[in-house]
Amino acid sequence: MTLTEDTVFSALRRTWQPVANAPALPPGAVINYTLLETELVIARFANGQLLAADVACPHKGARLSAGCIHDRVLMCPYHGWTFAVDGACAAIPSLVEPSPEKLALSHLRTYRVQERYGFVWVKLEDAPLANGAKHELPDVPEFEDARWTYRLGPPMAFAAGWRREVENYLDMTHFAFAHRRTLGLCADPRIRGMEITTHADGGYQMDAPFPALETAHEMPGKLQSAHHRRQRSWLPNFTTIRQSFADGDERVLVHIPSPNTRESCTCFWSLAISPGFCGPPPEAQIEFAVKVLDEDRRMCELQVPREVPINPARGAWGVLVTPGDTLANTFQKQLRRWLLAGAGE
Ligand code: FES
Ligand SMILES: [Fe+2]
Repeated sequence: MTLTEDTVFSALRRTWQPVANAPALPPGAVINYTLLETELVIARFANGQLLAADVACPHKGARLSAGCIHDRVLMCPYHGWTFAVDGACAAIPSLVEPSPEKLALSHLRTYRVQERYGFVWVKLEDAPLANGAKHELPDVPEFEDARWTYRLGPPMAFAAGWRREVENYLDMTHFAFAHRRTLGLCADPRIRGMEITTHADGGYQMDAPFPALETAHEMPGKLQSAHHRRQRSWLPNFTTIRQSFADGDERVLVHIPSPNTRESCTCFWSLAISPGFCGPPPEAQIEFAVKVLDEDRRMCELQVPREVPINPARGAWGVLVTPGDTLANTFQKQLRRWLLAGAGE
């Protein structure tokens, strides 16, 4: 069966996607974010509650993201209509006698919003997926364990589709080339013993020894030593990498490329470091990871077309395969199964 990009977006509307780092949205903050081609206003009220709604004011369509929070309401900048955190229109200043009917007609179209792992997440449709269950965020205990050190990275915008970013994060053979300046050369560029398993939820996992990297860069030392790497992916786009070092230290990273349009995404990411981690301080790790991610962004933006075709094709996936591409192929196959199982209906 031929899948389309409509199928993909329709499925993703039923999943939680990050729209902001929570610290970037303190009380009183109002921002704009385009998720799956839907332009949203995200606001945090003085009491900490969050609102996610269509950005256009129901009056004349002014962007509510240019509005501001006044106590318990979000005020539109154009004619001062105000809205409560549940989206209800609280006041229409120009009306001499505001009627409940007129206020009811002016309700914002709101979406589910939650905060977890330091991110603000929005789900555009609360309908269940093909398995009958509603999409929930995967549990990553290390991100919520007070003994671990947890840090958010600055979100990075990619002029490339979200599947380009997932594939890049799963790619095991680009280090010596795309990351020549930061990570340097792999001591051994060949990937040996990659073990891929799939899970009942459609997700998949890879376990592989990761070679030591050689570099003149001042940074990672510890981070570039040989380690065991486990990549665990939850469909559609939540992928963690767990690095287990010989001395027992561990590091878990997550990437979630939140789709803005069909050809652009914003990568939200963070990392957790095990207690007593013997290596660079977390802030330095984030700083270094930004440089590495920027190299990945450039590679993703070099690729034609801007999104990986959803169906197998030459230059895309499933046709010309090297062992290093097996994991990315697993992603495409599992995503396809997930979509065909009705996630996108
Ligand atoms: S456009 Fe928002 S109050 Fe008029
Ligand atoms: Fe990379």
